[in-house]
Amino acid sequence: MITSSARPLSSATVRIGVFDSGLGGLSVLRVIRSLLPAAELMYVADSGHAPYGERGDAHVIARSRAIASFLRGRGADLLVIACNTATAAAVSALRQDHPGWPIVGVEPGIKPAAGLTRNGRIGVMATTGTLRSERFRLLAQAHAAHVDLRLQPCPGLAAAIEGGEVDSPEVKARVAEHCTPLREQQVDTVVLGCTHYPFVAHHIQAELGPMVRLIDTSDAVARRTRHLCESLPARAALPLAAAADAAKLWTTGEQGRLESFARRWLDFAWQADAAVIPD
Ligand code: DGL
Repeated sequence: MITSSARPLSSATVRIGVFDSGLGGLSVLRVIRSLLPAAELMYVADSGHAPYGERGDAHVIARSRAIASFLRGRGADLLVIACNTATAAAVSALRQDHPGWPIVGVEPGIKPAAGLTRNGRIGVMATTGTLRSERFRLLAQAHAAHVDLRLQPCPGLAAAIEGGEVDSPEVKARVAEHCTPLREQQVDTVVLGCTHYPFVAHHIQAELGPMVRLIDTSDAVARRTRHLCESLPARAALPLAAAADAAKLWTTGEQGRLESFARRWLDFAWQADAAVIPD
């Protein structure tokens, strides 16, 4: 439980706030850490209110607003929405709420996929919320007019990954269920349009076969984050080689789940706590 108020803002380095509906955004956090080893990282897994992809926009916007305020209150210089679903539903609201605060969102990698496909058939695995969003419609319109997009909503998959055991029979069954239509449609490129899915990329690749290329946008998001950090006024001299303190992780769900997931997937120091973050 968090009881302390916001920590004072250090002037030495950039403080980056990152959140997701749950554990998935750790796939983005670990790349941010590798590109910005000196940055102070704060991460909220909203596992107590997940999955976002099946809960509707009003819920996702309310949760995103609450978490953005939580992280800003703890001195985040910049916010990364490490969640495709929350970006689709809430990035505009957050930018309106926090003018001038740099906010990086995550979107399915339709543009790189359209540039890489050879047969013109691209699968998009994402949450129902992301695929039905207006932002996704505009993204597809802008970058996929000349290719054939096969949309594959994956209900249940993020929730199964939240369970913590990515090699469980339940996770594998969900992956198989959602990959089968894409394999039958002979897509040659598949966009991982949810930040949970990189943790099961090995199962997705096994289902689709080695010739299918998987697109994950974590690298692009981390590069964009670094770019924005470099232009933050008082912190331009970010010492890229220095090591920062342990990343601070909070969860609105079970702390033990966050800890065991972080132990398996993060190769840098972190400290986890539970937090209550009301709407
Ligand atoms: N990780 C989230 C995303 O990128 C969503 C998972 C969920 O449905 O909560 O879309």
